[in-house]
This record gives sequence, structure tokens and C-alpha cells, in this order.
Amino acid sequence: MTQLREIYYCEKCGNVVEVLNEGAPALVCCGVPMEKLEAKTEDASTEKHVPYVEEKDGGILVKVGQNTAHPMLENHYIKFIEVLTSSKVYRKELKPEEAPEAFFTLKKEDVLEVREWCNLHGLWKS
Ligand SMILES: [Fe+2]
Repeated sequence: MTQLREIYYCEKCGNVVEVLNEGAPALVCCGVPMEKLEAKTEDASTEKHVPYVEEKDGGILVKVGQNTAHPMLENHYIKFIEVLTSSKVYRKELKPEEAPEAFFTLKKEDVLEVREWCNLHGLWKS
């Protein structure tokens, strides 16, 4: 059964969907079941994906990654950054050449989870 806020991926066409209403037995795309993405939390490589949260005046700045910015190339980039609170989902959509970061006007203590999706390396959270 799908759960609220889960993210699913189609290996055939690259479709990515987020569940807004839970309870479906399965999600199917291109005639095959979609893969539920499990967010990774640790980078083994030098390229950093785990979102890093900085408290700023009036909100939080989420960076991918902390010291070295993740590439934002045409074929490899961070597609979105999301911040989850108890009742809201904030999402910044990104394009190649933009900085892999996003500012959200909310308090750090309200943040339950921060996640991002890299078009090559999948879903990551902190
Ligand atoms: Fe990546």
C-alpha cells in the first residue's frame, strides 16, 4: 500500500511521482510496477548528495552538499529539493546551471525531513 509522501520512480520512462493520497495497492507506469525510492542518508563518494540545512534570517537554506556543490549539468543535476513539516511539503524545482540550493521561509525546528532527488543518483535525505 502506498503511503503519503512516498516517491516512486519508473525505470522505463523516468517518471517520478509523489503520493498525495495514500492507500493504493501499487503504482504502475509503462506497464510495470514503479519502484518506491528509499532515500539514502550517507555519501560514500566525494560527490555529496545529502541535503545540508543552514539556519538563516527568516528561514532555512538547504544546500546539496555542504562544502562542495553538487554538479548542475544538463545530464546530471538536482531536480528538486523538498522540506517536509508535519502538515506541509515545500518543494523547490531546480534546473541545470542553477545553484543546488533552496531557501524556505520556515523555522528549522518545524522541519521533519529534508530530501532531494538527483536525476542520476536518486533520492537523498537528512
Ligand atoms: Fe548526483
